[in-house]
Amino acid sequence: QVGVQRELRMRSDVVRTLPVRDPFSHKGNHGKGLLIAGSKNMPGAAFFSAKAALRSGIGLLKVSVPEVIQPILAAQLPETMYLPRVQVALDGASGVGIGPGLGRDAREEELVCRLVEESDTIPCVIDADGLFHLRNHLDLLPKRHKPAVLSPHPGEMALLTHSSVQDVERDRFGISKAFAEKYQVYLVLKGKATLVTAPDGRQIVNPTGNAAMAKGGSGDVLTGILLAFLLQHEQMMDAVSNAVYVHGAAAEELAAREHSLLDVLASDLIEAIPPVLHQLY
Ligand code: APR
Ligand code: MG
Repeated sequence: QVGVQRELRMRSDVVRTLPVRDPFSHKGNHGKGLLIAGSKNMPGAAFFSAKAALRSGIGLLKVSVPEVIQPILAAQLPETMYLPRVQVALDGASGVGIGPGLGRDAREEELVCRLVEESDTIPCVIDADGLFHLRNHLDLLPKRHKPAVLSPHPGEMALLTHSSVQDVERDRFGISKAFAEKYQVYLVLKGKATLVTAPDGRQIVNPTGNAAMAKGGSGDVLTGILLAFLLQHEQMMDAVSNAVYVHGAAAEELAAREHSLLDVLASDLIEAIPPVLHQLY
């Protein structure tokens, strides 16, 4: 069909475009991420995104969470630095992830908008409650110099487009393309065969993943992989497509070995990133 740019992501595309690590590299070469995630009732989301980012090669990671959950997270994940939510500042970060488990408290709306504006020239991934807070401020997106990456599930996509989940599922290609072009973002519409759309309308369908991922926390893992990969790839489309591919491949890896489709946890997905990357490299 003339004018339609759609392709299926192949394993060979991933192998060809994964970042190559310079033997003389240091942590500063692999990205300094800032993750704004978690809340009193959803501390796990911050943990999943942060650990997935570390398992995906990010050089340095600072996580901003409410002070009440900081000690427990720090005990679980000593590899990251922590920043109280009240003091959030980009402070030299080279990429930002916003939203998993953030909660829908109105106070966070201003923070989300400020970060989307201030991170103008660096990669910015917005997911989950970050999308909720941004829903009435989408006009901030096309003003950015570096396109943002939004990763809604169909329910969040319906919220962003003032439609229903059925409307979204009926026309995943058309709705994604219209949204990505209008707001100049990389859109990751999740679900079976996650669809990635670039600001120019180019679309890539992801072949990996399975129903084991239909469990709370899976999406938070993707946010972390996205942040890490955006800081290590030359091309944003490769970073986003490879992140989605590896995330799905992690679920397949588990199901092919010691797991069923019922028992996979978000933390298992994170621990399956290493074997998946090992096989791809
Ligand atoms: N086949 C393949 N992939 C699937 C399937 C399936 N049947 N079901 C789910 N997935 C994948 C999706 O493509 C996506 O990558 O699992 C992930 C699920 O992500 P989310 O829907 O964001 O789920 P979750 O991790 O629970 O989100 C956590 O954020 O979106 C909010 O309201 C949500 O508070 C919740 C939080
Ligand atoms: Mg989610």
